[in-house]
Amino acid sequence: MNEVKLALDVNEKPPVVKWIILALQHVFAMFGATILVPILVNSAVGSTVLTIPVALVTSGIGTLIYILCTKGRSPVYLGSSFAFITPIAVGAIKAGVGGAMTGIMIVGIIYVIVAIIISIVGKEWLSKLLPPVVIGPMIMIIGLGLAPTAISEMGIGSDITAIDYKSVLVAIFTFVITAVVMLKGKGFLKVIPFLIGIISGYVLALILGLVEFSPVLEASFFSIPDFILPFVSYIPTLDAAMTIAPIALVTIAEHIGDHTALSTIIGKNLLKDPGLNRTLLGDGIATFAAGLLGGPANTTYGENTSVVGMTKIASVWVIGLAAIIAILLGFLGKFTALVSTIPNAVLGGVSLILYGFIAVNGLKVLIENRVDFSKSRNVIIASSMLVLGLGGAVINISTVTVSGMSLAAIVGVLLNLLLPKEKEEMIEEMKDNNEEKNNTEEVKNEDEIREDVENIKEEVKQKEELVVLNHPLVEHKLSILRDKNTGTKEFRELVSELGMFLCYEAMKDAVLEDVEIETPLQKVSARRLNEDKYAFLPILRAGTGMLDGLIKVIPNAKIGHIGMYRDEETLEPVRYFFKVPADIKSREVLILDPMLATGGSGCDAIWQLKKEGVTKIKFLCLIAAPEGIEKMQKEHPDVKIYCAAIDEKLNESGYILPGLGDAGDRIFGTK
Ligand code: PRP
Ligand code: URA
Repeated sequence: MNEVKLALDVNEKPPVVKWIILALQHVFAMFGATILVPILVNSAVGSTVLTIPVALVTSGIGTLIYILCTKGRSPVYLGSSFAFITPIAVGAIKAGVGGAMTGIMIVGIIYVIVAIIISIVGKEWLSKLLPPVVIGPMIMIIGLGLAPTAISEMGIGSDITAIDYKSVLVAIFTFVITAVVMLKGKGFLKVIPFLIGIISGYVLALILGLVEFSPVLEASFFSIPDFILPFVSYIPTLDAAMTIAPIALVTIAEHIGDHTALSTIIGKNLLKDPGLNRTLLGDGIATFAAGLLGGPANTTYGENTSVVGMTKIASVWVIGLAAIIAILLGFLGKFTALVSTIPNAVLGGVSLILYGFIAVNGLKVLIENRVDFSKSRNVIIASSMLVLGLGGAVINISTVTVSGMSLAAIVGVLLNLLLPKEKEEMIEEMKDNNEEKNNTEEVKNEDEIREDVENIKEEVKQKEELVVLNHPLVEHKLSILRDKNTGTKEFRELVSELGMFLCYEAMKDAVLEDVEIETPLQKVSARRLNEDKYAFLPILRAGTGMLDGLIKVIPNAKIGHIGMYRDEETLEPVRYFFKVPADIKSREVLILDPMLATGGSGCDAIWQLKKEGVTKIKFLCLIAAPEGIEKMQKEHPDVKIYCAAIDEKLNESGYILPGLGDAGDRIFGTK
C-alpha cells in the first residue's frame, strides 16, 4: 500500500477550534445528500415516510456506531443511501412505513451476517457472487430508476397540463449552478456542488415567491424528531422485505469499493485493519439502528471520503464530531423546518444531474473493470438486469412483492452463477482470487512459508541490483545534458543516445534463442533475441525522448504510452492517457522516463501495468533522486531500476538537484 503523508492521522485529535471547523466541513459535505433522501422518498410516495430530523440523527448515530465497531481506525462518515430511495418508496406503498422500516432493519442484519461469514471464511466468495458485470448494471438501475421522479419534480412530466414557468426556471437555474460548481469549483467547493445548487435554487425560489415559509415560523427552536419504533409505532412485517433487502447485495459491493478507495487515499489497507468484517459490521449495525428509529439505510459517503482525500485529514475524531453535530442539527426544529421548505423544482434541478451521476458510476464500474460485451454471457446478464430493473417489473408471491430493482439484483446474481464462463474469464478470476488472497492475512502451510522466504530473498537481491551506468562516456554525455546552455537539438540527441545505453544494460539478462545461420563461409549455430517478447512504455511526455534510442536497438518491440503529468502543487501524478499493446501481459516491459524524482509518476505507471497483468517490468531513467529510488523500491521491489546517475536530492519544488531541469520542457523546447 502506498505510504501517504497525512496532515492528521487517523487517531490524532486537533485543537478545539480547528476540530470544530474541520467537523463542520464534513457536515457540509454530507448534508445535501442526506437530506435529499427523505425528501425524495416522501415525494415519490406522496406522504411522509422519512423525516429530515430523523435522517440527520440516524446518520450521526450510525457514524458513531461505525467508529466504535471499527475501533476508531477508519475515518468514514455514514449518510442516507440513495440506493434505497426507490425500494423504500415502493416498500412503503406496499407495506406502510412499518414495512419499509422492517426492510431496512433486515438490510442491516444481512450486512452483519455477511460480516460474520467473512470473519470465518474470508471474502473471496463475495467477488464471485458480485462481479462488476452484476454491480455495474445494478448501479445504473438505481440511478435511472429515479429519473421519472426528477422529471416530475422539475415540472416537465408528461402528466403536467399547464407548465409553471417559474418552477421550471428555478429547476434550470439549480441545474446550471450545480453543473458550474462541478465543472469549475475548486477545492472544497468541488465536493459540495449539490449543496451549492440547492442553496442557490432556494434563493431564486424565494425571490420568485415559490417558498412556503410558514412551517419555519410555526416550528419551535428545539424539537424531538419523530422517531418511530417497532411494536410502539407499528408491528413489524416482512411484506416489503423482498423489495428492499436484495439491494443490500449492491450496497455491500459499494461498501467494499468505498473502503478500497479510502485505503488508497490514506495509505492504510482498511480491508485488513480494522478488516472488512468490522467495517461491514459497523455499517450493518448502523443501518439496523437507522431502521429501528425510523431513518433511511446508511452508507459510506463518497463526499466525505473526498474531503479526507483533499485535506489529508483522516482523523476519526473529526468524523466523530461531525456525527455529533448532525445529531444536534436533527433537534433544531427551526433549522429542519427551513430545510423542509425547499421547493420541488430545486430538487428537480439537482436530481437531473444526481441521478444520471449515479447511473454513470455504474457505467464506470463496467469500463474500469473492462467488462467485455463481445461475450454473450455478459450481454445476457446486463441486458436482462436493465430491462427488469427499469421496465417496472413486479412479481407478487402471496403477500411478498419483489419489485424491478430487487428482481434485477437477484436475476443478475443467479445468471452470473449459472451461465457458463469462457476459459479466459476463469483464468482472470483465478488471478484476481490470488491477488485478493495476498491481501488478507491467512494461515500458510510450510511450503508456502518457504516460498515466501525465497520471494523475500529474491526481493532483497533485486534491491541490491539497482543498476547505475558506470562509464566515463556516460558521465561525459550527462555533463553536456545537464548544462543549461545545451540547446534542444543536442539535448534530444543525448537523451536518445543515453536511452540506448540503458537499453543495452537492461537487456543484459535477456535469454537468447538458438538459431541456425549461414555465414558467407559456413553454417553455424547462433543465438538471437526474440524481439516479440518486449514492449517499451514511455511516460508522456519526456519518456518519448528516450524511445528513439531503444527502438534502434530492438526495432520490433511493441510500444505503449502512459500519459501523466505531475501536479505542480501536490507533486502527485495526474493520469491522462493509457494505451498499451493488447498482449502486454506476456511481454517484458521497459518503462522509460528520464527523471525519477519523487517516484510518484514511475510508481503509478507500474501500478497501472500490474493491473493489466504485466509481471516483468524494468524502469529506465537518466537521473534518479534518492527519494524516488526509495519509494519505488518500497512499492515495487520486483522492478529493477536502471539509471545513468543518482543525484543528491530533491528541492522544495520536487526538482532533482543538481539534475538537468525539466526534462520534458528541454526535450520539446516548451520553456
Ligand atoms: C516529469 C518526468 C517524470 C516526472 C517525474 O514529468 O518526466 O514523468 O516529472 O517526477 P516524479 O517521479 O516525482 O513524479 P512531468 O510531470 O514534468 O511531465 P512532462 O514529461 O510532460 O513534462
Ligand atoms: N521532472 C523533471 O523533468 N525534472 C525534475 O527535476 C523533476 C521532475
